[in-house]
Amino acid sequence: MIENSPFIKALKKEPLEVPPIWYMRQAGRYMPEYRAVRSKFKNFLDMCKNPDVCCELAMQPIDKFRLDASILFSDILTIPDAFGLKVEFVEGEGPVFRNPIRKRSDIESLPEFNPDDLDYVYKAVSNIRSALPSHIPLIGFCGSPWTLAAYSIEGGSSKDFAFTRNFVAENADISEVFLEKLTNACFIYLKNQVISGANVLQIFDSWANLLSEADYFEYSLKHINKLIHMIKSDPVTAAIPIILFAREPKCEPIVLADSSADCLSLFWSMDTIDINQLKSKISIQGNLNPAILLESRDAIKRETYKILDRYKNYPGYIFNLGHGITPNINPENIKYLTDLVRSY
Ligand code: CP3
Repeated sequence: MIENSPFIKALKKEPLEVPPIWYMRQAGRYMPEYRAVRSKFKNFLDMCKNPDVCCELAMQPIDKFRLDASILFSDILTIPDAFGLKVEFVEGEGPVFRNPIRKRSDIESLPEFNPDDLDYVYKAVSNIRSALPSHIPLIGFCGSPWTLAAYSIEGGSSKDFAFTRNFVAENADISEVFLEKLTNACFIYLKNQVISGANVLQIFDSWANLLSEADYFEYSLKHINKLIHMIKSDPVTAAIPIILFAREPKCEPIVLADSSADCLSLFWSMDTIDINQLKSKISIQGNLNPAILLESRDAIKRETYKILDRYKNYPGYIFNLGHGITPNINPENIKYLTDLVRSY
């Protein structure tokens, strides 16, 4: 039973002897098994459009490390792609939008979001759900409306997203329209993932750090709050726990807890926050710096124990990294880390 899994118990803030473990980007280029499959596809998104391959990739880290939760293999940029922005992943460059939002009229003339365009994702969810042992929960996910808007307007990745910040400052009204369209799309997308078998949902606000505190509320958190409210108000999704990952937002973590997410996924630099304020309000997931996994085993042990000591009495603590596993990490260190947490 999924309800009895340690991961779901932690999401319900139950105290546990051993924290459940999974890793952001647990399926990825650091694994030779992943690279072998990846080499058969030129474009990353073509691989995401193959539900059988997505299932195989999602299962790889579960089979290899016996983790406590599985995550859908896909990407957050499937939604902008479905809006017709033509997302491609260029070797060494990351995502590139062939049809980015450049001007107001690009938003005005956006097609209606058709959730059926992402049938390949829902099929991947149901394949993974069928392949997983019945006691391992499956996490579905989406990007936050702000993070999706930032990629869509910038036309890809960037260090500071200067074009995007300028665009929203000069076009606040039409940006609001775009963020609302994305919020509605995220809701239908997540609901379909739940219908297809997702047991938990995670929202990735990976570019929360770009905004000042006031702008963070206006452009990001307001829409996340609305998305969570929609999920919690729909009978199909109401009981599904929600995890919110926000990369270094310029607001207090307690403000994120007020979003009524069930769990806060902490970025690795968020290690001085007052967790007493959060206790009994929200579960916590995190937050080892993935860069530590490039260091010696002594260093890994020291930093991991610091985190485990900090969260030892926190009801509803889930072990994870503070951001995704990077391609240069040795899979042996993932195994070492997992054993370390379980034997603490
Ligand atoms: O196990 C998993 O977590 C896999 C599922 C997953 C991927 N991306 C696969 C992926 C998830 C949950 C994501 C989320 C995602 N995608 C985020 C939010 C998390 C975060 O990192 O903050 C973001 C910002 C993206 C957008 C994205 N996808 C970028 C910027 C890139 C290129 C950079 C890179 O790492 O190459 C991707 C590509 C991507 N998404 C890969 C994987 C495994 C690597 C692609 C490849 O193999 O070429």
